[in-house]
Amino acid sequence: MKGKPLLPFAVTAIVGILLMVALSFWAMDQRAQMDSDEEAEEEIVIDDPIVAGEELYSRSCISCHGGDLSGTSGPALNALEGHLTAEEIVNIIHTGPGTMPAFDNLSDLEADAIAQYLLSESE
Ligand code: HEC
Repeated sequence: MKGKPLLPFAVTAIVGILLMVALSFWAMDQRAQMDSDEEAEEEIVIDDPIVAGEELYSRSCISCHGGDLSGTSGPALNALEGHLTAEEIVNIIHTGPGTMPAFDNLSDLEADAIAQYLLSESE
């Protein structure tokens, strides 16, 4: 007679524990989904200019700055982060410092896309 009243408590406890485990898995799943949603959103915003920037870079800049941004006749552009901001790079593209030609034919948007690409490749 001593054991019997305990049974409902044991059942309640087990059900409770199972519920907690199930809930924490559900919460982890939700969290993972939120994370991947955020990543997907960031990619849509940043991805396009970088893709366009890489294309523009390979048309206009690759001859002097190299296919891997390590530089040929122009300096390496693979470590611009912290050295130049996007605006400064846009300005450089439009003015052409030193022996670098100015690229008046590139719009602000195109120049900014190249800047985004270069900064994204920064090591
Ligand atoms: C004809 C060769 C040539 C071409 C083409 C060229 N550059 Fe340059 N670039 C240079 C030279 C040379 C310098 C160094 C200029 C100086 O300060 O004397 C330079 C400097 C730079 C700098 C500054 C780097 C630093 O560390 O301060 C950036 C950024 C840059 N170029 C980006 C570009 C981009 C983007 C393009 C394409 C739109 C491009 N360049 C096309 C030759 C070139």
